[in-house]
Amino acid sequence: MKESERKHRILILGASGFIGNAIYKELCSYFKTFGTYRVPHKIFKNNNHFLQYNVEQDDVYEVLEATKPSIIISALRGDFNAQTIAHQHIAEYVLEHDCKIIFLSSANVFDAYSKYPSYELDKTFSGSIYGHFKIKIENMLLRLPKKKTAIVRLPMVLGAQSPRIKELRQHLADKTAIEIFPNIIMNVTTDSKVTQQIHYIINRNKSGVFHLGSIDLVHHDEYIKDIVTQMTSKNGVVYKHVYTTNEDRYLAVLPKFNKLPKHLQVTSQEVLLELNK
Ligand SMILES: NC(=O)c1ccc[n+]([C@@H]2O[C@H](COP(=O)([O-])OP(=O)(O)OC[C@H]3O[C@@H](n4cnc5c(N)ncnc54)[C@H](OP(=O)(O)O)[C@@H]3O)[C@@H](O)[C@H]2O)c1
Repeated sequence: MKESERKHRILILGASGFIGNAIYKELCSYFKTFGTYRVPHKIFKNNNHFLQYNVEQDDVYEVLEATKPSIIISALRGDFNAQTIAHQHIAEYVLEHDCKIIFLSSANVFDAYSKYPSYELDKTFSGSIYGHFKIKIENMLLRLPKKKTAIVRLPMVLGAQSPRIKELRQHLADKTAIEIFPNIIMNVTTDSKVTQQIHYIINRNKSGVFHLGSIDLVHHDEYIKDIVTQMTSKNGVVYKHVYTTNEDRYLAVLPKFNKLPKHLQVTSQEVLLELNK
């Protein structure tokens, strides 16, 4: 194990979730890795590297004091006001300690722009409550010394266990309609690619804003249909076309200025192939 890997203590907030848990599994054999969960579950209760934490009730400082992380990965969901306060406390901790934060943000920080895909240095602009909330936390963390923050903007994250793929399986089982958005042009990724990319950001001590989406774009309706075709050979799948605007709308975070090495980049076709494994 490399010296740089041995020295880190990593805390993943939201380590029981889809992405947080994938990150935990990727990192736990290389670093002293801790995680939080909210809903009690035997596997987490029995793991003394997991702590129960509810952002609406508990003080994040107690979790920080108990785990003394040198890297905090924020993969939380929960009430936006409570999360904002928690991230204020996290920012104070990061400033006062030898510590860095990796914040999982979203393509939604650009959801008020529709005519172009977005790059790392574009000004954020959102029309949604979720996008506004992510921008607020991003701006708070970007005020920290540059080396102490990595903002990781994600598009739709897919994987065998992702909520979206589970939802598609359920629709197919129930023979209910699958919503598709023909006007949305987006990029995608997988949980396994995101975890490798985060591992690299940690190992190379990278900071700044990262756009971790596929390097190409897809139409939402066509891509979902491609996924469904891989999942079932049956005809008669029901789709519900949802038109939010008359024109095409981009919801895509493309890498340009802060690119990762080639082997860590991903295409929408590779995402599709991985879902088929
Ligand atoms: N999935 C995507 O496609 C996507 C795309 C862009 C950005 N993101 C961002 O990535 C992060 C992780 O997303 P995800 O899809 O992995 O979410 P998820 O599967 O819903 O996991 C959320 C995590 O937060 C915990 N949590 C929920 N409510 C909480 C509360 N009140 N107090 C403390 N912890 C709470 C959950 O604990 P329990 O499991 O115990 O409830 C779980 O560990 C989020 O910040 C999200 O905005 C995700």
